[in-house]
Amino acid sequence: MTDISRKEFLKLSGAAIASGALASSGLDSIANAQSRELLHRPIHSTGEMIPAVGLGTASDGFGRMSSNDDYIRRRNAIDALLSNGGTVIDTSPTYRGAEAVVGRALDDLNKRDQCFLATKTSIFGKDDGIEQNARSYNALKTNSFDLLQVHNLKDTDDHLETINALKAEGKVRYVGITHVRSRLNNEAVHFIEDNKLDFIQCQYNMMDRSIENSVLPAAREHGVAVMINVPFARGRLFRAVSGKSVPAWANEFGVDTWGKFFLKFILSHPDVTVAIPGTINDYHVLDNLGALKGRLPTAVERNKMIQYYQDL
Ligand SMILES: NC(=O)c1ccc[n+]([C@@H]2O[C@H](COP(=O)([O-])OP(=O)(O)OC[C@H]3O[C@@H](n4cnc5c(N)ncnc54)[C@H](OP(=O)(O)O)[C@@H]3O)[C@@H](O)[C@H]2O)c1
Repeated sequence: MTDISRKEFLKLSGAAIASGALASSGLDSIANAQSRELLHRPIHSTGEMIPAVGLGTASDGFGRMSSNDDYIRRRNAIDALLSNGGTVIDTSPTYRGAEAVVGRALDDLNKRDQCFLATKTSIFGKDDGIEQNARSYNALKTNSFDLLQVHNLKDTDDHLETINALKAEGKVRYVGITHVRSRLNNEAVHFIEDNKLDFIQCQYNMMDRSIENSVLPAAREHGVAVMINVPFARGRLFRAVSGKSVPAWANEFGVDTWGKFFLKFILSHPDVTVAIPGTINDYHVLDNLGALKGRLPTAVERNKMIQYYQDL
């Protein structure tokens, strides 16, 4: 693995963005500047490399189960991720029992060490947040989260104080905030500017590219890693292309499914660190991890993807 330092990565991507050459051949080499088989990207604050596709657990009632078969299905999805080079799992105490499913599965699979575990503080009130965090440690059966994020900018200042204290105690490795609505982009930018964040999580997909001119430049400037939620617009992107085959020209950069098409579009932006598609299906996890293989779209191909989507 080529360990790109934070400074080096920021310098290269900043220079390329400044020249207006998004995903140009220069950026392609940055985007692919790692010799692993699967695309990894750095967390800027430490230089730690993580696989650029993970797993979200809000999808289709990940935490809602009515039988053991339901649990096995979700455990298989987690197993597919961790057995095939993925590490990042994003969950939340508000995803109706998803934390408990993830905690149970990581123990059953004995793969806790392979997981980069992200959850959230998702409640108003500082003390309520502290109590909720305690329940999350319990549900996820761990004493340490890789990433703890303030969910949807709820009482952000208070919860950041708590999360930073947990980081100082070694119970959290990285600090982050999340939101999903474009109208909160400017607020998110203020938090990026005023705080020492490791991660920002927000929406980016072919339907909503609003962070390109707000959150992404701020994250680049301040060295904050970017986790992308709802990469498929909660499944609406698949419905938009329903009945259509993936265009043949996308095969040139290793795309043979719509899942890979939408994810490679996201990953071709150099300021994106990791996307977390939600699914309860192991075969979709495998499809999504496929976006980590092969080269990324060039600037011309990326524009072609945008045009294709706009013409639908
Ligand atoms: N504010 C926040 O912090 C926030 C907000 C929203 C989401 N999130 C996080 O972001 C994650 C992703 O968002 P999301 O789950 O709401 O939406 P999403 O990832 O945009 O879309 C999920 C949908 O895509 C389908 N899907 C997944 N992979 C597929 C593939 N390869 N081919 C075809 N269909 C596929 C899933 O169906 P199946 O389940 O049937 O595979 C599901 O219906 C969440 O799970 C959550 O962890 C965070």
